[in-house]
Amino acid sequence: MSAGFIITGTDTGVGKTVFAAALVAALGGRYWKPIQAGLEGETDSDIVRRLTAAQDPLVLGEVYRLRTPASPHLAAERDGIEIDLARLTLPAARKPVTLAAVPAPQQRAADETSGRSNVVTMIPRAKAGLAAVEDSGSAPTMQRPLVIEGAGGPLVPLNRQTLQIDLFESWALPVVVVARTTLGTINHTLLTIEALRRRSVMIQGVAFVGDANEDSEDSVANFGRVRRLGRLPFVKPLDSTSLRRAFDLSFRVEDFQ
Ligand SMILES: Nc1ncnc2c1ncn2[C@@H]1O[C@H](COP(=O)(O)OP(=O)(O)OP(=O)(O)O)[C@@H](O)[C@H]1O
Ligand SMILES: [Mg+2]
Repeated sequence: MSAGFIITGTDTGVGKTVFAAALVAALGGRYWKPIQAGLEGETDSDIVRRLTAAQDPLVLGEVYRLRTPASPHLAAERDGIEIDLARLTLPAARKPVTLAAVPAPQQRAADETSGRSNVVTMIPRAKAGLAAVEDSGSAPTMQRPLVIEGAGGPLVPLNRQTLQIDLFESWALPVVVVARTTLGTINHTLLTIEALRRRSVMIQGVAFVGDANEDSEDSVANFGRVRRLGRLPFVKPLDSTSLRRAFDLSFRVEDFQ
């Protein structure tokens, strides 16, 4: 089985979190949303906890918790920080408290002086989340596949120099593209696939979310030469039991080996 999967999407709001929750439950995996932009209401990690309640997965702490629901580069700027890729290495490779997880003294002093309190709260949370993984890092825990949910799609900027796809490349894990089934999805999904292929990012396949649209799914698979992993229908009411059932009916765990 792969050490994990990156869950990306053709857009924001396509169903990445719901799909990721279903996948985490089916694989008995760990979920990680390294960059959370927007803290009002439930975060994606909260949603995954709720939608996988029965399976008790491990939900790792976010590294960046940004207040504004916007692209990470902008949300970070609004909070007065810059996203640093060195802090976004895969959790399994981390030590309980790494220097990479701690801001440089000058940075911390500048942040504290300017009253950027989110930075101060961000660091303990990050350490707590990551440390928890390492602390409970028994072999079985560490071997659980890591399901990483990205922010929006692959070409979302993380800062003024880096796109999220750069991070995907460095993680070297296969990507699942979550796509809508509605009008416009063929173009969006094929563009997403092209972008990933240009960087040689491995694509596990496409997971569709929504009502059946056979031609769209078929066109994406044919033109994109990509695997159709399945389609998660809109589940109502959406809870851990109904989601698990819907996933089991539409997807095969063997496709995520
Ligand atoms: N299979 C589904 N059944 C029912 N509701 C769904 C399903 N998939 C997604 N939704 C709903 O659609 C909305 C967007 O889904 P979700 O939060 O998973 O998108 P996302 O791609 O993770 O968004 P973001 O880019 O903000 O992280 C949510 O309200 C979610 O509950
Ligand atoms: Mg999400």
